[in-house]
Amino acid sequence: MSDKIDAVLHEERSIAPPTDFARSARYSAEQYRELYAQSLADPDTFWSKAADELHWFRRWDQVLDWQEPHARWFVNGQTNMAYNALDRHVQAGRGDKRAIVWEGEDGEVRTYTYAELLREVQRAANVLESLGVKAGDRVTVYLPLIPEVVISLLACARIGATHSVVFAGFSVSALADRIENAQSRLLITADAGYRRGAQVPLKANADRAAESAPSLQQMLVVARAGAAVEMEPGRDVWWHEAMAQAGTEHQAVPLDSEHPLFVLYTSGSTGKPKGILHTTGGYMVSLHLTTGAVFDLKDDDLLWCTADVGWVTGHSYTVYGPLLNGATVMIYEGAPNQPDWGRYWDIIQRHKVSILYTAPTAIRSFMRAGDEIPERFDLSSLRLIGSVGEPINPEAWMWYRRVIGGDRCPVIDTWWQTETGSIMLTTLPGAFPSKPGTAGLPMFGVDPAIVTRDGEEVGPGEGGLLVLRRPWPSMLRTVYGDDDRYRKTYWGEIPHVYFAGDGARRDSDGYITVMGRVDDVLNVSGHRLGTMEIESALVSHPAVAEAAVVGRPDDVKGECVVAFVLPQVGHTVDPAELRQHVAREIGALARPDAIYVADALPKTRSGKIMRRFLRQVAAGQQITGDTSTLEDPSVLERLQTTPAQ
Ligand code: WTA
Repeated sequence: MSDKIDAVLHEERSIAPPTDFARSARYSAEQYRELYAQSLADPDTFWSKAADELHWFRRWDQVLDWQEPHARWFVNGQTNMAYNALDRHVQAGRGDKRAIVWEGEDGEVRTYTYAELLREVQRAANVLESLGVKAGDRVTVYLPLIPEVVISLLACARIGATHSVVFAGFSVSALADRIENAQSRLLITADAGYRRGAQVPLKANADRAAESAPSLQQMLVVARAGAAVEMEPGRDVWWHEAMAQAGTEHQAVPLDSEHPLFVLYTSGSTGKPKGILHTTGGYMVSLHLTTGAVFDLKDDDLLWCTADVGWVTGHSYTVYGPLLNGATVMIYEGAPNQPDWGRYWDIIQRHKVSILYTAPTAIRSFMRAGDEIPERFDLSSLRLIGSVGEPINPEAWMWYRRVIGGDRCPVIDTWWQTETGSIMLTTLPGAFPSKPGTAGLPMFGVDPAIVTRDGEEVGPGEGGLLVLRRPWPSMLRTVYGDDDRYRKTYWGEIPHVYFAGDGARRDSDGYITVMGRVDDVLNVSGHRLGTMEIESALVSHPAVAEAAVVGRPDDVKGECVVAFVLPQVGHTVDPAELRQHVAREIGALARPDAIYVADALPKTRSGKIMRRFLRQVAAGQQITGDTSTLEDPSVLERLQTTPAQ
């Protein structure tokens, strides 16, 4: 951990919020301070007020029931996420407002008003029910970024089915594992998706995944790309055919506040990806609150969160948060460089996007492509720009503000996780000056601390572990099917606090800078990958006897995957084939950038691989630190002269 913390730049710049923006902002510094203080001193009042802005079929009896590490929020309340995201707005006469502006990679544009989206969701809810899906059943969603993904999620939420979205870039075996773990009975997929002009054969992948996922009984298939697919009679149904027959009336089902809304798999430092479980009421209240506050939402905003719905950012800030607020969202199906690196700017100019929320890895790619590309476009519709997913280096932050934000838009860096469900740390735009590279202050009700391994708080400016000292409404409730792992990973590392797995420090103004993972989780282009997962994929190849994976700093991806492999006796390792193998086992994003074929790995006498040294080898650095615990220190010398392939 200390290598990472020492490596962080000490950034001194501070940029005041633009006066115009501040004048009409939702929160001033004083208002934030007052509300934040209330949220900690009297959470019942604070959260009751936040929840009362939404519709409840039955009001809760108790705001929070906390039996560490298990929380129940808005106890015995009954509500429905889809009702709050759609019906509520239509009933209030806002049915004609645009909910979604969608653009395909091929340039096709589709828009849905709230009334239209509600009709589609009602239809889809009827389709799910006609297929026998009931409240509490799990539905896996493996779709490209098309409107049907939003409709599917909301239809599940409407009937109380728990959705589990699997990113369409994941492989057959990753998909099969997730279907099996969730015991999903239905899979919603498409014939194929588009990525950089090419077709991704989603249905064919789904067919293969189904072979090793016996829980799966049915597939609903969206015709997106006109790809030839095999439909298995009795199991597979075309989305458009089922939708054409379904009625457009559907009553949203009142669900308990703690009814499971979704499972989303994310990587941890050990074992297979874990299914992070989120429930209904608390997640809904946090998303409604944070989207309004952090993005300073106004009625005429067009909010574009560029994340795919396959990740938590897409769940929370493409789908649920904005729709709960009755906002209009921009959704773009494809890659940022399709047909060239001007695509995002072209979309912003044509659709007049006012809020952009994207990831540092994308920002660094744009920077590398050159200022002259965004400079060709009119980006004056933007009024706020945000970042999420990994630490943003101050230079990328400054570039983002200057070139994309025209030195006029506040930049918000937001720290949160799949587990936290909603934004936990940020610098509220208009209220506070921002510091490049620093997320900022806690959101309402969030009680962070920076501590040592023993739970002792460290002083201002000192690095330590980021923990959250009290439960919050959108917190994960458990790891699906493995509550023990939930207890141990999140509430067992440091007594009585939520352990985020990140290193951080807090400055004398209270701003928190999150520096990155302190465990064996990599962050590649803003996506979490466990070293263990990639190592298991590598050793499942017949030519590999043993493997160790570490991250290496990368200018664009933030971190890239470097693998050290020992060949199986009598085999030679072909790095190209091994990369393909990893892409097949997990997905292209896990593909190693460099592979070292080694004759031994640096291990302690007890057999533990010392990844710290491998990180130094991978980065081409001097080996520093105590090597005396290694069983054979000469391994390191040999590795340093081994060429990466
Ligand atoms: C990292 C994405 C620094 C962090 C919403 C965290 C960040 C992990 C930031 C969660 C940020 C996310 N600054 N680091 N603003 N945002 N991270 O679950 O390491 O995909 O633990 O959720 O991303 O990634 P996840």
